[in-house]
Amino acid sequence: VRTGHGVKGLVDAGISHIPNRYIHPPEKLADFKRISSTITLPIIDLSGLSDASIKNSIAQEICEATKKFGFFHVINYGVPQDLVKRLMDSTSEFFELPPEKKACYLKGVSPCKNVFLGTSFTPESEKCLEWKDYIIMFFFGEDEARAFWPPEYRDVLLEYLKLQQPLISFIFESLLKGIGVTVDDELIKAYIEPKAVNLNYYPVCPNPELTVGVGPHSDLGVITLLVQDDVGGLQAKIEDEWVEIAPMPGALIVNVGATLEILSNGEYKSVEHMARASNTNRISIPIFVGPRPHTKIGPLPGLLQKDGKPIYKDLLFGELMEHFFSTPHKGKQTPLDFA
Ligand code: SIN
Ligand code: FE2
Repeated sequence: VRTGHGVKGLVDAGISHIPNRYIHPPEKLADFKRISSTITLPIIDLSGLSDASIKNSIAQEICEATKKFGFFHVINYGVPQDLVKRLMDSTSEFFELPPEKKACYLKGVSPCKNVFLGTSFTPESEKCLEWKDYIIMFFFGEDEARAFWPPEYRDVLLEYLKLQQPLISFIFESLLKGIGVTVDDELIKAYIEPKAVNLNYYPVCPNPELTVGVGPHSDLGVITLLVQDDVGGLQAKIEDEWVEIAPMPGALIVNVGATLEILSNGEYKSVEHMARASNTNRISIPIFVGPRPHTKIGPLPGLLQKDGKPIYKDLLFGELMEHFFSTPHKGKQTPLDFA
């Protein structure tokens, strides 16, 4: 079995059973095995956004769905579906390149610290590995992206990111307005311009019932916008019960990250989720919208004045990142969990 080529390398080597290091203890897998039903998240249709009267009610729907579930679908969100399809296709094209063509992006080799190809989550510290390969790009501007992103998908991903921006602004503004905070340029610059994008590739797994694609965790940023293909496997702990979020053609999934939970002083909560491994190749593409590492995060001032006490103390986003990326996935996390 070849090493250093990720899970895809194992599959291409023709393994018929997953290596022991990918096998997770049965008790850790129990929750997702028990899931018998999928749920329909609130589906928020954004096609009426240009109409001012509808816009307000859409903003309210977003706040309600976020408070109740922490997860929702949006449809007609301003990105042509053929662009999404091209993004999925070029993601496959990238991961199907021969290993020697991808090796230049591996962590430790990639010439740009903001772009690297990885496998599992924190292989150095995980006892049990995750059945997933990915490339992560911290997006701090188009010039760096043009210079360092793989040409297989670079242009289509940049176009996708550009078309997402109005949607991201609208969701952020709606959510903050819903808790009495007015969004200004400073908040936009700090919290919703920087992003990280993952292209996740979950290769076909010979024993999907013994491992996970991604273990239970909650996201770190402000919000995450995720497209998944039609394979399925995303699961979330909604109202205390693990449920599967079935793929919905044409929809984007939005969920809350720890940073929004902190900024909102707990009004919006991040939600634990994971992804199953599967007997089919699967692709998912999350955009993590959130601050740069040196940005201080804490409950927004307006919220403190209203309810007196902060739930969370101020910290740097980088501290949250350091904690998150140094330990294996282990369920929902906020700063309270590692204080
Ligand atoms: C993740 O939350 O890290 C990935 C979710 C997915 O692949 O659906
Ligand atoms: Fe996630």
